Amino acid sequence: SFDNRVKLVEVGPRDGLQNEKKAIPLATKLDLIERLAKTGLTTIEAGSFVSPKWVPQMDNSSEILQHLLKSPPSSPNPLTFAFLAPNLKGLNNTLSILSQHPGAFSSGTNPPSQAKPAVEIAVFAAATESFSQKNLNCDIATSLARFKEVIQAAKDNTAGGGEGGRAALRVRAYVSVVLGCPFEGYDVDPHRVAEIATELLGYGADEIALGDTTGMGTAPRTKELLNCLRAAGIRNEDLAMHFHDTYGQALVNTAVALEHGIRKFDCSVGGLGGCPYSPGATGNVATEDMVYFMETLGMETGVDLDMVSDVGEWIAAEVGRGNESRVGKAVLGA
Ligand code: HMG
Ligand code: MG
Repeated sequence: SFDNRVKLVEVGPRDGLQNEKKAIPLATKLDLIERLAKTGLTTIEAGSFVSPKWVPQMDNSSEILQHLLKSPPSSPNPLTFAFLAPNLKGLNNTLSILSQHPGAFSSGTNPPSQAKPAVEIAVFAAATESFSQKNLNCDIATSLARFKEVIQAAKDNTAGGGEGGRAALRVRAYVSVVLGCPFEGYDVDPHRVAEIATELLGYGADEIALGDTTGMGTAPRTKELLNCLRAAGIRNEDLAMHFHDTYGQALVNTAVALEHGIRKFDCSVGGLGGCPYSPGATGNVATEDMVYFMETLGMETGVDLDMVSDVGEWIAAEVGRGNESRVGKAVLGA
């Protein structure tokens, strides 16, 4: 039977903002997350526990997580907030905040309470050695050894269950530059992607997010990659697509992935974003464009297009750049 529901993961507050040079006030970030939560989005990547020297914009992620747990945004649906945590230090930051807010736990094995949003973490590997060095300051093998520890510790978490219970944190694992690398070009081996994804799933990662960091992905290469992952035994339900729209191919590639059977897609409101270690890369495909595209296909996202278009226009003005969503601008008649 054809499943017409898709899960959209909003990455604007993290991927969308991490590269902004000017410090965005905490209040603006919280306002953004609260506005997004009202639109029907269920999963929002809200921050990043990484080195503030490398990514200063994400420095107030602790305050963001604390606020979201203390005063959960109002939403028509249960919410999950995701935070990047590439090492034990990042995970421990997350866990120590969670331990102060019993009742907030993962959407993995335990259903999230209505009162508290669920929290998950994300690690991020790369498909090429040069991108791994630039983004993680270590080679792929070293990064995988670290992620194994992080994932296992997240699964052993005793912090989030409330009443002394244990609750495994849900873990997303990105693999970046799967369809093109800023340093190695198109020379990215899909078999290497399959190997890395298989490793991460073996450690207990709940999902692999395939990052087209540079937006170099094309329809045929997306198809080739997904076929290769399928041949390696990786299930569609374990995959999410994370397309940056640098070359305007994100929705084309989304169509290919949908056709292949993938039902989870990342997007960023207003098309915000860019990766600090991927020169020239622009934002993720805009949430507004993704929602509109899915609607034209009869797919259900649960997201209100008008509401999310308003959020895109608002945040573009707040960060002082143009609204990068074509659909958003059209919907608003701007
Ligand atoms: P490291 O192994 O500790 O080594 O961190 P390092 O030399 O790179 O950094 C050392 C400094 O970072 C030390 O501080 C650590 O304490 C600190 P110092 O002693 O020099 O003052 N540090 C931390 N601080 C806070 N929280 C932490 C943390 N860890 C170390 N968790 C690490 C390696 C990767 C963590 C570090 O290099 C780092 O944070 N890099 C930034 C990576 C990053 O955030 N990249 C952007 C996100 S990934 C992305 O955008 C791609 C994605 O969207 C998918 C796609 O599009 O493909 C996800
Ligand atoms: Mg990204």
